[in-house]
Amino acid sequence: MVHSRKALYLASVAFAASASLASAEGVEVLHWWTSGGEAAALNVLKEDLAGQGIGWEDMPVAGGGGEAASTTLKARVASGNPPDAAQLLGMALQEWAAEGSLGNLNAVAEANDWDSVVPASLKALATYEGNWVGVPVNIHRPNWLWINAEVFEANDLTPPTTWDEFNTVAAQLQDLGITPLAHGGQPWQDATIFDDVVLGMGGADFYRDAIHNLDPEALGSDTMVAVFDQMRTIRGFVDENFSGRDWNLATAMLMDGEAGMQLMGDWAKGEITRAGLTPGKDILCVPAPSTTGSYLFISDYFAAFNVSEDEKASQEALAASILAPGFQEAFNLVKGSIPARTDVSVGEFDACGQRAAADLKEAQENNTLVGSLAHGTAQTSAVQRAIFDVVTEHFNSDMSSEDAVEELQIAVESASY
Ligand code: BGC
Repeated sequence: MVHSRKALYLASVAFAASASLASAEGVEVLHWWTSGGEAAALNVLKEDLAGQGIGWEDMPVAGGGGEAASTTLKARVASGNPPDAAQLLGMALQEWAAEGSLGNLNAVAEANDWDSVVPASLKALATYEGNWVGVPVNIHRPNWLWINAEVFEANDLTPPTTWDEFNTVAAQLQDLGITPLAHGGQPWQDATIFDDVVLGMGGADFYRDAIHNLDPEALGSDTMVAVFDQMRTIRGFVDENFSGRDWNLATAMLMDGEAGMQLMGDWAKGEITRAGLTPGKDILCVPAPSTTGSYLFISDYFAAFNVSEDEKASQEALAASILAPGFQEAFNLVKGSIPARTDVSVGEFDACGQRAAADLKEAQENNTLVGSLAHGTAQTSAVQRAIFDVVTEHFNSDMSSEDAVEELQIAVESASY
């Protein structure tokens, strides 16, 4: 595998090689990959570029989900000084393209035949009016439940597959004096759980109706009331210091056995492997309760902002490197995600990565693949923020489920007006 990987890799960066000569200054990249596992993955990219003689100008903005990074990016673009590339989630990429702030990567895409190897769901968000405006880096799955295997084995507990089972096992953990759910009270983390509950309680069609299509009937339905009931139940399973905690610190609680479970995307695997634990063995991965068979997806993209001719060369070199098959394998092994190409084997990936790839395929076939609201793959930023506000307010107050549903409908209506 290693030699063929290298051959493919060399072929696909041939385009980048000429560009790299012009990029002595390096490529400036704005991103939010600042946790230990994320930084390790980013290092794979930095080293890859260094191998081609391309320097790296780091522009990290801490904050999972990328909210803080988005604010910094807006300021940079407004001042007429965008970075060469910026990490973005799908809907933001579309919004920046609509603003006219993005150039295109068509030449790199054509030279490396992206059209044949990038999955359609990713291409749809990476292209705008037929132009490649960003390059997809990976595919993450946010609907995972991570479980401390030792805690579960020692106490004879069974990994839950439904929300009812989750509630039962969480209550058992609580009785044992173990925090059932490691969680950080930040809007995007609350929304990550909300995504799981909507998908789990309603199924993929309901998720699509409510979250993608903003169908008033779905948003105001009894199912949505039940979703908020379940959110209230979950609120009872987090520790009292959850407020504001970063996601990777919650993952640390899970790894230490201070908590039994965590609902989080598979970037958690970056922390797990970096701590020397094996995903699928020390920390088990099962689809978030009641979401088996469905797949929430997100992809990180690097957007190609309008830059000078000089900077364009580095930007193109970066883009070509990112989608090269060898890099796709090396990077995603560390990041916890799976490749953004259909032709890269996941044979070397851990059990959770292999399951992610198999489940993705199944979800594509069964039409149960849906983009995540929490991670910018379902709605405009205005609607996303409006829903975050309701979810977080409900989670941190004694608001009833009926009131939350009403607030949700009002918020969505005014944000999408
Ligand atoms: C990104 C991941 C990142 C996570 C936590 C998500 O929105 O897609 O790449 O690891 O946020 O920062």
